[in-house]
Amino acid sequence: MAEVTLDLRGKPKAEAYAELKRHTEAVLEGIDDDVCGMATMSCLLHHAFGHLWTGFYRVVTPGKLLRVGPYQGTLGCLEIPFGKGVCGTSASEARTLVIEDVHAFPGHITCDGRSASEIVVPVFGKNRELIAVLDIDSEHEAAFDEVDRQHLEELMGWFSRAKR
Ligand code: SME
Repeated sequence: MAEVTLDLRGKPKAEAYAELKRHTEAVLEGIDDDVCGMATMSCLLHHAFGHLWTGFYRVVTPGKLLRVGPYQGTLGCLEIPFGKGVCGTSASEARTLVIEDVHAFPGHITCDGRSASEIVVPVFGKNRELIAVLDIDSEHEAAFDEVDRQHLEELMGWFSRAKR
């Protein structure tokens, strides 16, 4: 298995995600470890698309607190309470949020002032419990849409599947 970091910029989004999903699952074959999965996906997503910040906030106290986990980019806020910012809202509502303009989102938490838009996807574990949220930030406005939502939700399905 080639441990290659793909650069998929310039490809149509759906095609890029399909290639990234195949690649990610091949790289992670035989691995059943959430942190390893989060680190690998942060790296592959970040470099494939050239995002500003790509990573996970893990549920450390269910219903209450998220703490930063594996990520790529500038320093992320360490902890986010459920219900706060985009990540905390996605966690408390257990649904994906696509934010075209972060400045228009009440309570948005600014970790990197260049962030203009973002997508946050809930991550469920094998017992269907919320284990984390995936947070991707872009310096471009309205960088994310339904195509991102659909493919990122599919990719996050890795965490709820039995590996062996
Ligand atoms: N944008 C997030 C905060 C986390 S960072 O940007 C890395 C939010 O409002 O939830």
